[in-house]
Amino acid sequence: MKLWEGRFTEPSAKSADDFNQSLSFDYKLYWHDILASIAHVKMLGETQIIPKEEADTICDSLVNILADIEKGNLSIEGAEDIHTFIENELVKRIGVKGKRMHTARSRNDQVATDLRLYVKDSIVGVCNKLKALISTLLQIAENNIQYIMPGYTHLRRAQPVSVAQYVNAYSEMFLRDLERFTDCYKRTDVMPLGSCAMAGTDFPIDRKMTASLLSFSEISQNSIDAVSDRDFVAEYIFCCSTVMAHLSRFCEDIILYSTDEFGFIDISDAYSTGSSIMPQKKNPDIPELIRGKTGRVYGSLTAILTVIKGIPTSYNKDLQEDKEALFNAEETVLNCLGIFNELLQNISFDTRKMRFAAAGGFSTATDIADYLVQKGMAFRDAHAVTGQIVRHCIENHKTLDKLDLYVYQSFSSLFGEDILERVKVNRSVEARKVVGGSARSAVRENIRSITKRLNRMFKD
Ligand code: ARG
Repeated sequence: MKLWEGRFTEPSAKSADDFNQSLSFDYKLYWHDILASIAHVKMLGETQIIPKEEADTICDSLVNILADIEKGNLSIEGAEDIHTFIENELVKRIGVKGKRMHTARSRNDQVATDLRLYVKDSIVGVCNKLKALISTLLQIAENNIQYIMPGYTHLRRAQPVSVAQYVNAYSEMFLRDLERFTDCYKRTDVMPLGSCAMAGTDFPIDRKMTASLLSFSEISQNSIDAVSDRDFVAEYIFCCSTVMAHLSRFCEDIILYSTDEFGFIDISDAYSTGSSIMPQKKNPDIPELIRGKTGRVYGSLTAILTVIKGIPTSYNKDLQEDKEALFNAEETVLNCLGIFNELLQNISFDTRKMRFAAAGGFSTATDIADYLVQKGMAFRDAHAVTGQIVRHCIENHKTLDKLDLYVYQSFSSLFGEDILERVKVNRSVEARKVVGGSARSAVRENIRSITKRLNRMFKD
């Protein structure tokens, strides 16, 4: 049965019903819909808007419906949306009493409430996966403090760094994602129920009671806004989008670093794929797919932002389009976080190749410039002198650590014997003791700080 057919004289067209329905995707809200209805009906009973015994009967029946769905004894089908489905089922089970459930409520505030409950739970789920991922990264960092790799800018060798510092960079990104979700949670944690269709209700409902039953921290303050506010959905998908951006960048590195050309890492066979025609190939399909799926989540973000931008004030049916965008983004980000975490644990580093590559590309040139500055030369001049030394090396097929002292001294009399030590890769990494720098002590401090911030975020 439809919830709205009273004023109609003709039955609706099947094609119109099919187009209008949302049950094929909003069935996912069944748990939260039932939870919200139980809280609402309890409040209706407590405030004597409906008789207490009837409220109890409704709640008992809702609990049974939930149990039947969970057990697979009740399949969700044959209604316009999940709200209609649950209400029809209730009326089927307890008759006319069930029809009281929708007192002082509209599907407009109901769906907004369900969705907020859903997003709150979803944020917790995604955050737990992010936490697991950061824990894996911290472990990898701990195990690789002593190993050196090239650090890149513009994908050209820039300066040597440790594998641990490189991995920590991603922990920082995922920590920011966690913070963003935590912040999004605050704005999601507001209950719209009681806004009804759009103007509130004349029943003496107790919104605070319902909110506390549903563990909402706040209640919305404007019914017109509350029924159509989907900012929290857009924000949630944006949070998912930054996670995907970070995963995608990491995947790009993994794909690149596992090529024969780089040869820095190896992805275990269990997480690699072959080619149907080229027997020699071992392909990085998993990181490629994560990189590719990032587009989906950005697509969902564009979809929700576009839905929101066009609607006139208050509820419009366009908002039904919020759900698939949300569910798709959620599913993608959860899947990708899960498999990526596994992938990371199945990667090995070729530390010798990385170390070798780190020494190439004149990656300690900045150390020479800094050396000259410490001896009194202005940085710009030091930069120019170092540039000439690099050119000399290129022309003479030399590396910075293979130049004789007298060659250095031919470029500047400020060079002393200690320059030969300064251009060594290990020395270069260790020299950057500044907070956030590449020195082992700084990287250890970075690991400590990431661990602390992570624990702080999960303490309550
Ligand atoms: N299925 C609808 C949605 O997802 C529920 C709200 C319907 N409200 C209405 N006034 N037609 O938005």
